[in-house]
Amino acid sequence: MRRPMVAGNWKMHGTRASVAELIEGLAEQVLPSGVDVAVFPSSLHVIPVVEGLQGKSISVGAQNCAHEAGQGALTGEISSSQLADAGCKLVLVGHSERRQIMGEGDDVLIRKFAAAQASGLTPVLCIGETLEEREAGKTLEVVGQQLDSVIVALGINALVNAVIAYEPVWAIGTGLTASPQQAQDVHAAIRAQLAKENAEVAQGVRLLYGGSVKAANAVELFGMPDIDGGLIGGASLNAAEFGAIIRAAGN
Ligand code: PGA
Repeated sequence: MRRPMVAGNWKMHGTRASVAELIEGLAEQVLPSGVDVAVFPSSLHVIPVVEGLQGKSISVGAQNCAHEAGQGALTGEISSSQLADAGCKLVLVGHSERRQIMGEGDDVLIRKFAAAQASGLTPVLCIGETLEEREAGKTLEVVGQQLDSVIVALGINALVNAVIAYEPVWAIGTGLTASPQQAQDVHAAIRAQLAKENAEVAQGVRLLYGGSVKAANAVELFGMPDIDGGLIGGASLNAAEFGAIIRAAGN
């Protein structure tokens, strides 16, 4: 059985005061023991969040890392080893905002994925199609290619200590959610693609859904056989709402 995971991507939100308030709210939530919970604050807030959540079973991750694991002359970047040293356990790789707005392509994302693992962090590989690609019937092709680039470069075993998040770009921050069946169809295709390489890896890897998940739609989404939890953006900024989503994954 795969252990469900619910992760909160705080994106470029928060001040010291609002982050302190959010983690206080999280600490008050009654969380099911069977769900792995993680939050991804901005890099600036990683250390206070790690410190503030000490003793709670909530992991902290970063939203991005440099394409090299070690320290070095790379102005403005933060390496995976520095994130690990700060107490991070996971890192997002390939979020659509980084692919589309920051122009990150598969080559650099593969290096970030490898750097994360070299530092002992679990990469959460985000993949997903745009509305245009979905309407052109290219969803599985696009998602398959994004996943394949990592498998070809790093091998199927690189997915053993990783999480995959399927996030249709048209559902992120738009209030539009993929229907449970639409999401399940893509998740099943992702797992089938992995199974072609290695059935055991395919059965073990957690596939999260992301895109306008809220407490009101989480139960149905998480009830699908290949959806192992969620990557939550906007709704993770509200402790009570995020808590309710986590409890939905524990059902
Ligand atoms: P959303 O974001 O829940 O606000 O749609 C999800 C994400 O971008 O990870």
